[in-house]
Amino acid sequence: MLDNMERGLQVKPERPSTLKMLPTYVRSTPNGTEFGDFLVLDLGGAIFRILKVKLSRASGVEMESEVFEISEEIRTGTGEQLFDHVADCLGRFLQHRNLGKEVLPLGFTFSFPCVQSQLDKSVLISWTKGFRCSGVEGKDVVQLLRNAIQRRGDYKVDVIAIVNDTVGTMMSCGYKDHSCEVGFIVGTGTNVCYMEEMGNMEAVEGDEGTMCINVEWGTLGDDGTLNDIVTEYDSQMDQTSSEPGRQRFDKMISGMYMGEIVRHVLVKLTSQGLLFGGVSTQQLLKKGTFGTKDVSDIENDNFPFEKTKSVLAALGLKPSEQDCVQVKCVCSAVSLRSARLCAAGLSAVASRIKNNRQHYLGRVTVGVDGSVYKTNPKFGEHLNEALRELAPGCQVKFLVSEDGSGKGTAIVTAVAQRLATQRK
Ligand code: BG6
Ligand code: GLC
Repeated sequence: MLDNMERGLQVKPERPSTLKMLPTYVRSTPNGTEFGDFLVLDLGGAIFRILKVKLSRASGVEMESEVFEISEEIRTGTGEQLFDHVADCLGRFLQHRNLGKEVLPLGFTFSFPCVQSQLDKSVLISWTKGFRCSGVEGKDVVQLLRNAIQRRGDYKVDVIAIVNDTVGTMMSCGYKDHSCEVGFIVGTGTNVCYMEEMGNMEAVEGDEGTMCINVEWGTLGDDGTLNDIVTEYDSQMDQTSSEPGRQRFDKMISGMYMGEIVRHVLVKLTSQGLLFGGVSTQQLLKKGTFGTKDVSDIENDNFPFEKTKSVLAALGLKPSEQDCVQVKCVCSAVSLRSARLCAAGLSAVASRIKNNRQHYLGRVTVGVDGSVYKTNPKFGEHLNEALRELAPGCQVKFLVSEDGSGKGTAIVTAVAQRLATQRK
């Protein structure tokens, strides 16, 4: 991870890096002087949200939000359909609140890998997490959004900034604790961002100060470097995924894949006669029938295994007590591995920060979000335990982002708007 981070920052490394190390054009963490009313679109996690965020000196942060559906059809349709849908939802959001006449500044949390050349110019490299909308890869996502809003023509907004969810999370948490300089997501997908010294970024002009880098660590291992620890279950899951061979680290960790890995293990153990009396069911053999929430529910279940039995019964299985114990072992192993891989990655980031700083204080604050971290109480415990082993010289403190990355994206938008006004 460390070696790939280093090479990812170089323009012409001797060997190409699998990590994209994307400059985000976010130059500082919040300092508490960000104010105004903002709209935020939050697309790419388990839910699509639109928010109105008010940052004020008097009352701090006030937010109202609405969740909109992104159907499977839209996820896998054309880019035009996706952005028309987003523009339609935004239109409804504004109408419900009588905001149609104002031109509000808008920040866009877009949780996919993008090459940014400025805060409001962001070209999608490739879709991840099951999105496959045609005609978007290689295009500026901000422009596609502006075009869709223009096609409707019934309201106006000022799209100021586009931000990865890791960056939004770091900024959200940084509003409360100014020492937060890492954003970490473990939900549908996994990723990290951190503040890097400008002098180490060959692709960006200037040597002064810092800039946030979106690591896109999910691609680690796409060149085969993780093959020693990839199991047959990872390979089976990868082959039937929407992007075979890609996002290998992501696929060993995040919520989109964990349930499917467990399902493959259960199928194998059943075929060997080691589970459920050797009798499988149609549901167990079907892709996607075992969710990450099931993994977490079973990992946290104990005798008399009510939860485990009900999850397995929904797959048409009749587990014995011994089966329940074994299924719990499988779930715990897959989730423990996920947490420990995250810890390995985070210890690399912590160590990079430590080596970068002249006055390193021995601690790193990480803003964290995502359904895996938030819904599985054991996950954080495993993560902390592994970090104590892997980064003994560094105290890693986690700050859970309570209200998503929207607040952070509003903060980035506020700063960008202030700078734009000063330039005029
Ligand atoms: C949310 C963010 O809080 O966390 C999203 O606002 C982000 O942008 C998400 O993608 C990650 O979690 P999940 O579990 O929804 O993928
Ligand atoms: C995927 C995306 C990345 C995002 C992460 C968490 O790995 O590529 O951009 O940050 O999921 O949502």
